[in-house]
Amino acid sequence: MSSEPTRLWGGRFSGGPAQALAKLSVSVHFDWRLVPHDVAASRAHARVLSRAGLLTEDELKQMLGALDDLERACLTGEFLPTIDDEDVHTALERGLIERLGSLGGKLRAGRSRNDQIATDLRLYLRQAARGLAERVLELVQALVDQAQNNLGVPCPGMTHLQHAQPVLFSHQLLAHVQPLLRDLQRLSDWDARAGLSPLGAGALAGSSLPLDPEQVATELGFNAACANSIDAVSDRDFVAEFLFITAMVGVHLSRLGEEVVLWTSQEFGWVTLDDAFATGSSIMPQKKNPDIAELARGKSGRLIGHLTSLLVMLKGLPLAYDRDLQEDKEPVFDAIDTLDLVLPAFAGMIATMRVNADTLREAAPKGFTLATDVAEWLVRQGVPFRQAHEISGEMVALCDKTDRDLEDLDDNELAGISPHLTPEVRHVLSVDGAIAARTTPGSTGLAPVHQQLNDVIDQLDTWRSWVDAPATA
Ligand code: ARG
Repeated sequence: MSSEPTRLWGGRFSGGPAQALAKLSVSVHFDWRLVPHDVAASRAHARVLSRAGLLTEDELKQMLGALDDLERACLTGEFLPTIDDEDVHTALERGLIERLGSLGGKLRAGRSRNDQIATDLRLYLRQAARGLAERVLELVQALVDQAQNNLGVPCPGMTHLQHAQPVLFSHQLLAHVQPLLRDLQRLSDWDARAGLSPLGAGALAGSSLPLDPEQVATELGFNAACANSIDAVSDRDFVAEFLFITAMVGVHLSRLGEEVVLWTSQEFGWVTLDDAFATGSSIMPQKKNPDIAELARGKSGRLIGHLTSLLVMLKGLPLAYDRDLQEDKEPVFDAIDTLDLVLPAFAGMIATMRVNADTLREAAPKGFTLATDVAEWLVRQGVPFRQAHEISGEMVALCDKTDRDLEDLDDNELAGISPHLTPEVRHVLSVDGAIAARTTPGSTGLAPVHQQLNDVIDQLDTWRSWVDAPATA
């Protein structure tokens, strides 16, 4: 073999690239993870060349054998990119030529790195979407299990981080499940749009060779070939959308993480983290810190940043391919790697945390959280809500002034505020009564929460089958 570096564009250049250019240009250190997808696309391309009569049966056989061997060698680490390989495509062509001699050079006919990279990235992301969904599902399962195990435990429901109305803690946990289910839905919606094959677009104009992009698309597990060869090599909407989803997952983890930080504080004491999922302090021996929740909250910043960087990179680009597009990969790879790290830790933290039911139950009525129930009781007695709100507010003011709870007011004090406040109002002055009264679908009563839990559990199997069905051939 010659010791000349493999370069895919040598012909019209008098010498090799300047070192500074080569260093700037190289992407193989991060696009190497696309190897299996680049090889899969190469197999499909080899077959299409053979059907077009551009490779003989025997050449196809040799080509497929060499591709298999090359993939194996890449996976075992026997074949590695060198500093002279500009990108994954260059390295793999070198590997093919090492195996096949000049026959290896035939595979490039009718394709360009422009349609190749767009294809590889779609294949990679469709697989990554399933991996991400699987990890989101693990977190959903942990939340569902906690909701199930703590069914019936009331806690203060909050708005403005102030005690608002009592709710079931399971209801609060399931309120964090719903956004994650929407993320799963987003991934599967995204997958349908991303399921188009750019291969056959060549550099931008398609090919004068009799290729069959639809057949290639089917072989690679895509739903169809891209409709426009210029768009096929320029489009990175699928990356932007993917990064939106990862940013959204990051934001959902961050919001839940923020609550876990609050819940585990001395002031709340709602949950206790398992030792294995909390950290200590190097100086304060008593400390137990919710680092997983904090790292999730912190890392949402970089996930949002990746979406922003991709959109900014794209916004001024003329069609078709521009080298700027190489900047699409590191953000999306890092987004995937980040969530791969965060989600299992987060799910483990949720699965193992101990819910302090007594503390929650005790906190539930604090802050006059039953005042709305008084107002609604008055409405049921025929009092207009506007007036009922005032009456209940006066009860709160009196209790606040005299440092008592709503149920501590005696009959005379109640009657003094309003003749509508008969002693029967005390029936609604209990947390369990307030929660039990909320029977409408989606509300915090035990029956609707139970229903919600069962509906979520029903959906999980559907999502598990989506995760398990491979996207690509
Ligand atoms: N490494 C390039 C990328 O990631 C591959 C495509 C290069 N195409 C080109 N015409 N230079 O986008």
